[in-house]
Amino acid sequence: MESSTKKSSLSRNLDCTFYRPADEFFQSNSGVSLTYDDVSLATLYSEIVPREANLETLIAPGLPLHLPVVSSDMDTVTESRMAIALALNGGLGLIHYNMPAKQQLSEVSRVKNHVHGLIREPIKVHPDQRIGDVLALIEEKKFSFSTFPVVDAEDRLLGLLPGHCVRPRFAPRGVSEAMMPRAGVLTIREDELGADPIARADRFFTEHIGIHKLLVVDKEDRLRGLFTLSDIERITQERSLQTKPARDEKFRLVCGAAVMAPRDSEGQIDKEGLIAHVGALVDRGLDIAAVSTAHGHSRGVGESVRAIRAAFPKLPLIAGNVTSAAGVEFLAECGATTIKVGQGPGSICTTRVVAGVGIPQLTALYVCSQAAAECRVAILADGGITKSGDVVKALTLADAVMCGSLLAGCPEAPGQIMEINGKFYKQYRGMGSHAAMMAGSAARYGHAKELSQKSAAEGVEALKEVSASADTVLGQLAGGLQSGMGYLGAGNLAALRANARYTRITPAGLRESAPHDIIEVKTGG
Ligand code: XMP
Repeated sequence: MESSTKKSSLSRNLDCTFYRPADEFFQSNSGVSLTYDDVSLATLYSEIVPREANLETLIAPGLPLHLPVVSSDMDTVTESRMAIALALNGGLGLIHYNMPAKQQLSEVSRVKNHVHGLIREPIKVHPDQRIGDVLALIEEKKFSFSTFPVVDAEDRLLGLLPGHCVRPRFAPRGVSEAMMPRAGVLTIREDELGADPIARADRFFTEHIGIHKLLVVDKEDRLRGLFTLSDIERITQERSLQTKPARDEKFRLVCGAAVMAPRDSEGQIDKEGLIAHVGALVDRGLDIAAVSTAHGHSRGVGESVRAIRAAFPKLPLIAGNVTSAAGVEFLAECGATTIKVGQGPGSICTTRVVAGVGIPQLTALYVCSQAAAECRVAILADGGITKSGDVVKALTLADAVMCGSLLAGCPEAPGQIMEINGKFYKQYRGMGSHAAMMAGSAARYGHAKELSQKSAAEGVEALKEVSASADTVLGQLAGGLQSGMGYLGAGNLAALRANARYTRITPAGLRESAPHDIIEVKTGG
């Protein structure tokens, strides 16, 4: 008995000496700033099966996420398509502001009005067309389906052209002859879809044996969308397996947007313009706004945050970026609920090169997390995340991570795919690069709209190899995060924070940490 107690106190002492909790570890390394690859986490006794680890986080009061990942408000990362993908996977997309204000409103509306599985603009045909025209359309567009709603010029539903009539032998016949008339077409009114449209459509298909399409109409019987049985079956199967989408109380996907205070001719912040734009975003259903700049601990950002907070007392509000405890305190006092931490860690950032300023990310996160706990605000670890292991390390200190580079190659990111020497790429550029600043983001880096020769760029323009879909990338991040939580015996993110024990690693340790001394024939991703 005595010897086993002795043994366990010895092992506890050894572990405590070598693998330190955050306070001891970062305080004892206070003279040096560390980043993700400088440390590794120690394993702990665990009863947690990774796939059961809970990834819920609260990034602001009243704004929970099921996946602690936010996509960067960058013009090569987040517009509505990416924001929809993030929210469907339980995370949050922040729509960038390098676009006219009106367009940003439409982007937010697209996310808020998105109904998973509802095809918003179904392909439709007109009664005066011939079956031959429809066959030509299918051939030209390579459609894999042949049943089409039939509408008039005002989009009012007239009938349904069934696939079994769309055959070459009927080519000269008119669509109006072949269609099932309106009275025989089963539809549902848009306002009857309820809080869970997928469940509603699923029930409809169960109740109507042999029906494969459900048309959605408005009060005037105009066609508003279409559900297909195969989509609904795929989604319901996925639902039972995986992630929960992040939704608001009206069951709409959550969406954030970055805002930038316009300045008047004297360089003063145009608070009225800012408030009017945020108000319009809120009217569209915005869940969280972000005052997103390179230097958040500054008068201009403080004024913008205060103005938004005064006008919208309850709106979740991200502000940043900072890397100091004083910066966190300042933004929290101004009214931010969520502070973005990171100066210079981003893959396309040159702030540290150009300005000589910035803090390696893990130390910045530790310092900011201490102040955030005091001020009761959440923090986002923004930039420098290159692999799921970084997410695990970041979340030992932060409430969520923000990713640009990891998502910029996904088909859901804005921008064209280009081919170079047989490989496919998408553009990825820093918001402080010359090109992005010319497109609108100059103020984020403290420059006037018209760049002068002295306006030093703080970001580069780059390419990312086209990657898998956002669903796949986010699934891999979530899986890696859950593995990390399993190793640390952490069933949720609070336990991950409490359990984390760090050790510094050397360049040799880092080399050992990745595949080495082999010829790799298949990557892990
Ligand atoms: P990753 O590493 O995910 O970083 O690509 C994305 C984050 O980088 C920040 N960002 C910049 N930082 N100059 C900078 O110093 C830039 O031009 C720039 N553009 C983006 C931003 O915080 C983003 O979320």
